[in-house]
Amino acid sequence: LEIVWQIKIKYKELGGVKMNLMLLGAPGAGKGTQAKELIDKYGIPQISTGDLFREAIGNKTELGMKAKEFMDNGQLVPDSLTMSIVEERFKQPDCQNGFILDGFPRTVFQAEELDKMLSKMGKKIDKVVALEVRDSEIVERITGRRISKSTGKIYHIKHNPPIDEKLEDLYQREDDTEEIVVKRLTAYKNQTAPVLDYYKTQGKVISVDGEQEVSKITADIMKILG
Ligand code: AP5
Ligand code: MG
Repeated sequence: LEIVWQIKIKYKELGGVKMNLMLLGAPGAGKGTQAKELIDKYGIPQISTGDLFREAIGNKTELGMKAKEFMDNGQLVPDSLTMSIVEERFKQPDCQNGFILDGFPRTVFQAEELDKMLSKMGKKIDKVVALEVRDSEIVERITGRRISKSTGKIYHIKHNPPIDEKLEDLYQREDDTEEIVVKRLTAYKNQTAPVLDYYKTQGKVISVDGEQEVSKITADIMKILG
């Protein structure tokens, strides 16, 4: 165990792996859950546009207030707002050695803009991990999700119940109701599914069965990435 830890520490000191990853999948497919596992394994940060919007809403910024109108209705936030929040995030120094995109891009326009933005920085997307989960699983996953206020850890009341967390530290997202999930799924099918084809034509997509155990999915992703 000691040797494993030493290797992990050395790996992080060396800057981890340089890899620009993207996690693509329907609401509740497990993007956030897998991103949190991969941050640790690869030493690169997660960039979740959903989390960035929720942070902006929490800080009551103008952008946050505009985004909230769409998020509360299960609709996508307009591309211009989304691109501006991503552009700001890419300026942070922690993105230098790579990143894990979670929930972005969500339209073909965003994907094209992202490619342009990265190419100006001399970067590109290396791999797109498509997490495949049937619609029938989605509502149950989303309505059962609980998140820790203090650590941001993602739980599920049945599949991954919190053990050490205090109940008052857990919250449910406002858009995690059955009614809004249906709208989010429609937005995914109409606007985001074409993004998968966009990256398939670039030969970058890796499909992973997202209905396995969390650790098995992480292992599958890491095996394919090498
Ligand atoms: P966002 O926050 O990105 O939400 P989402 O895409 O709908 O995805 P979720 O976060 O709901 O699911 P997830 O895949 O991360 O699953 P998780 O790991 O948590 O976006 C929210 C909103 O912001 C959008 O609707 C839109 O309005 C706006 N927005 C964001 N980005 C945008 C963009 N680029 N453009 C425009 N608008 C944008 O897991 C879910 C649950 O399942 C958890 O309880 C978890 O414990 C459980 N679970 C996970 N894996 C497993 C497993 N293997 N087995 C069993 N249970 C599991
Ligand atoms: Mg998420």
